[in-house]
Amino acid sequence: MGVLLRTNLIFFLACFCGLVFGNPNRCDEVRKVFQLRQIGPNQLLPLSPRQGSDLQVCMSKNQTCCTKKMEERYQVAARRDIQNLLQTSSSSLKFLISRNVAAFQETFEVLMRQAENYTNTVLQDSYGNMADQAMGPVRELFTDISLFLLGSELNVDDLVQRFFDSLFPLVYNHLINPGLSDISSGYAECVRSSSRDVRPFGGAPSLLADQIARSGVSGKLLLQALHLGIEVINTTDHLQLSRECRRALLKMHYCPHCQGLTQSKPCMGYCLNVMRGCLASMAEIDTHWREFVRSLEGLSARMHGPHDLEQVLLGVHTLLHDAIGHAQKNGPRLSAQVHKLCGPPNRRPTQADSIQHSSNKEFTPLKALVRVSGDSLAVKRRDFLNSLRLYRTYYGGLADQLCVSELASSDGHSCWNGTDIVKRSP
Ligand SMILES: *[C@@H]1O[C@H](CO)[C@@H](O)[C@H](O)[C@H]1NC(C)=O
Ligand SMILES: *[C@@H]1O[C@H](CO)[C@@H](O)[C@H](O)[C@H]1NC(C)=O
Ligand SMILES: *[C@@H]1O[C@H](CO)[C@@H](O)[C@H](O)[C@H]1NC(C)=O
Ligand SMILES: *[C@@H]1O[C@H](CO)[C@@H](O)[C@H](O)[C@H]1NC(C)=O
Repeated sequence: MGVLLRTNLIFFLACFCGLVFGNPNRCDEVRKVFQLRQIGPNQLLPLSPRQGSDLQVCMSKNQTCCTKKMEERYQVAARRDIQNLLQTSSSSLKFLISRNVAAFQETFEVLMRQAENYTNTVLQDSYGNMADQAMGPVRELFTDISLFLLGSELNVDDLVQRFFDSLFPLVYNHLINPGLSDISSGYAECVRSSSRDVRPFGGAPSLLADQIARSGVSGKLLLQALHLGIEVINTTDHLQLSRECRRALLKMHYCPHCQGLTQSKPCMGYCLNVMRGCLASMAEIDTHWREFVRSLEGLSARMHGPHDLEQVLLGVHTLLHDAIGHAQKNGPRLSAQVHKLCGPPNRRPTQADSIQHSSNKEFTPLKALVRVSGDSLAVKRRDFLNSLRLYRTYYGGLADQLCVSELASSDGHSCWNGTDIVKRSP
């Protein structure tokens, strides 16, 4: 009799609980989601709702489908969810920056090749007999400039002066004091080392060095700034969340599951509260980030005229043409000075084909060739900054943006307020 009564009572209680929990067992739904999102092994779930006195965050007067072990798993999952969300959210910004770093570098390389080509072409056209021999030093000059612009600690004055030094023997041999045969290599070496005293190219070397240094500094800063930008995004992608934040995320995302409410979303105000707290360190980045975008704009605005790398590089051939012209005009004086320093020209034995007379054709600057497409650095820079400007408030508005677009319940639906599901009156 007693046994029967007890059995009935248990049966009755089981039915009653089932009723309160809606479906025969709410934990089935919880189990499904637990499995689907790979939150942890299914054995962690209780078979039916229980009292959750051991829970630390998802406490409730109601019965629960959670255990303490599940809470731990939920906490890990909540953190993972947010980090995925942050990465997804910043990926377009990261892509924008890294794509532009790549594009700038590519444009820059094309620009370098073009500038070298113009320089060789002008030498070919105007000073044909020395053009082939000048190609080596020209190549070296542009290689050095590239290295400098990409970050090497090269001294611009030195690299430019080295170029003009090696140009002087060629100019001497072919234009200033042409003879029946080339000067000997020893004599060429003396001419080269006299270059700093004789200054055959006037102010051209220091002018070029100055232009490269000025325009290059802005270009270098721009690239450095872009790398810095990627680093900032990298750091925030891997943001460390505080203990309080992790608990708050658990409560917001997964505590409803413990009550079988797997579909519920947090209320907007609640979400904003939690997310602003978790992303407080990002809000600190906000000021710096805005400053970063503003300084890129300032940097870019300063990059024109003699500060525009593109103009400087594509003007090297003109500057060089003028510099050689200057030396030619002062030929007699230079010749005398070299004679004083190096003695009379020492020439190689005559070879039939070693003599070519200079044919100074009329020089036409290659300006017309310069603007070939809209791919110039300046255009790229402007487009990039226009896109980046849209992200100026990215960090300050991130918490709000995530709640509005992803996390929180939209207006008019019921939502989870941290302890209960509340119905919104429309
Ligand atoms: C410059 O480039 C053009 C077109 O690519 C090429 O035909 C020419 O040979 C190059 N000139 C020199 C001097 O490298
Ligand atoms: C950013 O992170 C990615 C992957 O985590 C790494 O490959 C890249 O080098 C990082 N970039 C910077 C600038 O730190
Ligand atoms: C807890 O149970 C009460 C009734 O016992 C119910 O009204 C309430 O909505 C439940 N809370 C949750 C979060 O399920
Ligand atoms: C959530 O809603 C319930 C019921 O409306 C209320 O009693 C409780 O104070 C609310 N909790 C918070 C944190 O707002």
